[in-house]
Amino acid sequence: MTLAYKRIGIIAALDEELADIVEKLQLNEAEEALHTLFHFGTVHEQQVVAVKCGVGKVNAAAATQHLIEKFGCDCVINVGVAGSTNDDVRKNHVVLSTDLHEHDMDCLEGPGVISRMDTSVFLSDKTLLDLAKLKGKALLPEGFLHVGPIVSGDQFVSSKEKTMWLSETFGSLCTEMEGAAIAHVCYLNSVPFLVIRSISDMADEDALDSFESSKDEAVDYTTALLLAMIG
Ligand code: ADE
Repeated sequence: MTLAYKRIGIIAALDEELADIVEKLQLNEAEEALHTLFHFGTVHEQQVVAVKCGVGKVNAAAATQHLIEKFGCDCVINVGVAGSTNDDVRKNHVVLSTDLHEHDMDCLEGPGVISRMDTSVFLSDKTLLDLAKLKGKALLPEGFLHVGPIVSGDQFVSSKEKTMWLSETFGSLCTEMEGAAIAHVCYLNSVPFLVIRSISDMADEDALDSFESSKDEAVDYTTALLLAMIG
């Protein structure tokens, strides 16, 4: 089972989340746009474009639209770290998205409901998800792989109270700041997507310290899984 797209777009918020991927896939060419670099190259006859979009939903949305419109990407994969919103999902565990929600969307129609849209729940592509599950099971230690809803908002979550609210409201496994925006833009463009996140913190009162000290190790897990999917 391999990927067969015209051009795969890879998007991460931070340098630390993307640098190894660009190096290992040898994406040696680059083009500047949106105050960042879009790296590209060919990996096993598969064209790949990778971009560090910056933090938050707007940066993520702009870069995703650029990947699709300007680079012709027909599939988008988002990688990076996240805060856990489920006690079974621990540091360095990997979460594959089934569906994405914008947890900070509030039009007084219920949390996460985007007014006047036909859906507020953005479903991951089954083919991408199946491949990631297959590779993840082979690659990751027993119990490290989780599959379920991911929430995103323009907020670094660092309180147990908020984490519990996210879990109860959306059934989320983890929270981050870009995935749902990427999913939303992919939905608008009818482009398949998947979000792959490893856990750097428990989104509680220690989240910032844990994020700083654990993100580099956590990133290794998403990088390894993405490389297994593409390689
Ligand atoms: N990314 C990593 N940890 C996070 C958290 N606790 N909240 C939001 N985004 C994150």
